[in-house]
Amino acid sequence: MSSSLLSVINLTKKYGDFYANTDVNLNVKEGSIHGVIGPNGAGKTTLFNSLAGSTKPSSGKIIFDGQNIEHLEQYDRPILGIGRSFQVTSLFPDLTALENLRLASQAQEPARGFVFWHGITRKGFGQRRALHMLHRLGLDKQAQTPIKALSHGQQRILEVGMALMSEPSLLLLDEPTSGMGVDDIPQMINLLKQLREECTILLIEHNIRLVTEVCDQVTVLQAGKVISEGTPLEVSQDEKVKTAYLGEGI
Ligand SMILES: Nc1ncnc2c1ncn2[C@@H]1O[C@H](COP(=O)(O)OP(=O)(O)O)[C@@H](O)[C@H]1O
Ligand SMILES: [Mg+2]
Repeated sequence: MSSSLLSVINLTKKYGDFYANTDVNLNVKEGSIHGVIGPNGAGKTTLFNSLAGSTKPSSGKIIFDGQNIEHLEQYDRPILGIGRSFQVTSLFPDLTALENLRLASQAQEPARGFVFWHGITRKGFGQRRALHMLHRLGLDKQAQTPIKALSHGQQRILEVGMALMSEPSLLLLDEPTSGMGVDDIPQMINLLKQLREECTILLIEHNIRLVTEVCDQVTVLQAGKVISEGTPLEVSQDEKVKTAYLGEGI
């Protein structure tokens, strides 16, 4: 049995008197795709923010690759190998798909640093990695297309590619299919299946078809607490999960 790449131990996040996460425990096995599901407001994004370092937990531990990381700053975590998908708004809308990936590549080159004003005019730098990534994403034909002219689904796929440019060992994806049309979802499913070979993935997702097809394990949150965990089949048969989703219409 493979070991845990990530362990979350009794993680609690309070906003004033409100508990967004209460004593959350989670183990993500190396090489697995682990889903986090739950109704709106369950605390899924809050948990991710604690993992990525954009928020500090009120108490509890986060152990990544054998190291306590809950005290580390957000900018230290990608260096350890934790990647997070960029939000749509953080793509550069006037730049092309290729240029966006080249910037992501450049941001990962410590020797050169993030020299923004050099990056997109200097041919060759990061170009090969960016072209390779576009090919993997199935977006070769969109290389010269500005982001704002891509479909929403293509933008979501590109965001995953942006996060991959840092070659993370753990990739955090917060609802990668949100706002995607049903026709685009198989492309995301295929991409995630391919990624299984290269990194561990922790995935917040509403699309149950995707969760069932790609996740090995699923943790279900409700009102900030873990109410169930297991394989997609096991959690889908759990009465507590069915009750939690009543009225959500998933
Ligand atoms: N910065 C914040 N300040 C106060 N409350 C917050 C903040 N962020 C999230 N919350 C609250 O925490 C709860 C969980 O939110 P969130 O983690 O975004 O849920 P989910 O991603 O599962 O929909 C919600 O009730 C939300 O209003
Ligand atoms: Mg959320």
